[in-house]
Amino acid sequence: MDGPVPELAECASACAERLGDADSVLLASHIDADGLTSAAVAASALERASIPFDTVFSKQLDESEIAAIAATDHDTVLFTDFGSGQLDLIAEREAAGAFTPVVADHHRPADAETEFHLNPLLFGVDGASELSGAGASYALARALETDGVDNRDLAALAVVGAVGDMQGSNGGLTGANERIVEEGVEAGVLEAARDLALYGRQTRPLPKLLEYASDVRIPGISNDEAGTIAFLSDLDLDLKEGGEWRRWIDLSGEERRTVVSALVQRAVASGVPASRIDSLVGTTYTLTTEEEGTELRDVSEFSTLLNATARYERADVGLAVCLGNRDGALDAARALLRNHRRNLSEGLRWVKTEGVTVEEHVQWFDAGTRIRETIVGIIAGMAVGANGISPRLPIVAFAEKSDEEVKVSARGSRVLTRQGLDLSAVMREASRAVGGDGGGHDVAAGATISNGEQRAFVEHADRLVGEQLDG
Ligand code: C5P
Ligand code: C5P
Ligand code: ZN
Repeated sequence: MDGPVPELAECASACAERLGDADSVLLASHIDADGLTSAAVAASALERASIPFDTVFSKQLDESEIAAIAATDHDTVLFTDFGSGQLDLIAEREAAGAFTPVVADHHRPADAETEFHLNPLLFGVDGASELSGAGASYALARALETDGVDNRDLAALAVVGAVGDMQGSNGGLTGANERIVEEGVEAGVLEAARDLALYGRQTRPLPKLLEYASDVRIPGISNDEAGTIAFLSDLDLDLKEGGEWRRWIDLSGEERRTVVSALVQRAVASGVPASRIDSLVGTTYTLTTEEEGTELRDVSEFSTLLNATARYERADVGLAVCLGNRDGALDAARALLRNHRRNLSEGLRWVKTEGVTVEEHVQWFDAGTRIRETIVGIIAGMAVGANGISPRLPIVAFAEKSDEEVKVSARGSRVLTRQGLDLSAVMREASRAVGGDGGGHDVAAGATISNGEQRAFVEHADRLVGEQLDG
């Protein structure tokens, strides 16, 4: 049986076998939507295979985090959604006899090797767009199946992880991710459809859905409450029920088509570029076993809910939601989501007001303490395309971790990666040049450097990006 990613099947079996032979497993994962879903997929599969384990989360796997992991009493450590980028440090611990690592990750590997290393990049599968950490974890979960166990229901979480890592495009997920989608559909947990591609189809009343949509800006609708209400009221549809606005999911297919075509007409009339208009409709994913009208039913809303927990030191809450806790944990996650959304919108407003500094090959801003370092990358990505922030240059963002340390986040585009941009190499080399470290993916990467080295870092990054795009 090959599993969803045949290229990885053999390696996944070897990893699964090692986990089955372990005396005691520690599951260690990353604190974002992909990291949480990776952990939840692995945790469910280990549990179903009757392999006991403990779980820890980490913001950034560095020397001291790995030392802390080595100090625990586990003979086997399963790293998910990180580990490849730190394989040099992990391999040193392994050589010293601290633990046997099993790594299920999709980040650019450091220059070292280990036996149980499940990473799409080692098998010719693109780790930035075709398989996420949760996808690698899912491949492992399928290999961990024992008699009578079917782990295909975990495809739902794997898809949440891939979407959380922005692996899809308007046409939806591709490559290995798409095969995972197929397995989720077969298992009856997932549905894919062409639909309005705006955030909040499950939970937002119609005016808020349109007004807050930030991906496609339509004059007179985006950020315009009165304009949005006037637009909806002119449609000759019954969009209220008992005095309350209905949500997207409450509309019939016919009603949805009417709204979409009116939106498209309005966008055309307002001169919105055709490529932006096309992205109003895209492939959307629904978790069919979740309750309608909740954040969990829509894959994109689910992934934002998870980021709202783990990036605020509440990975426990996000993991509990992934594992099916729908009472206390879901309420706690919703409270965290309100806070996260407020932080995103305040941070984004700050970046738009302050603007970016444009160098020859990169643009950058330094948020200091104004933006939390765990979300500065998300905000940098959202800022691209806003007033004066060009999508033609990669964006580099700084935020203070402490008086001593600064977090760096970088975001590019697929157009730039096709021209040779590899932000993972840029972050690693530019940070090492100033005594820090970093890594990630070609299109999105990060680093930690000493506070005060920002300018020097920008100079290195600017030169490195220039070299990549020249060559
Ligand atoms: O550590 P991890 O792989 O989970 O994080 C990937 C990060 O890269 C996410 O924050 C995701 O939003 C970002 N990303 C992006 N654009 C892409 C692909 C990934 O901003 N095209
Ligand atoms: O933190 P941020 O969202 O900017 O991270 C973008 C990508 O870079 C993620 O995949 C993250 O795991 C990776 N990263 C890394 N090393 C760092 C910081 C981030 O590999 N020091
Ligand atoms: Zn990931």
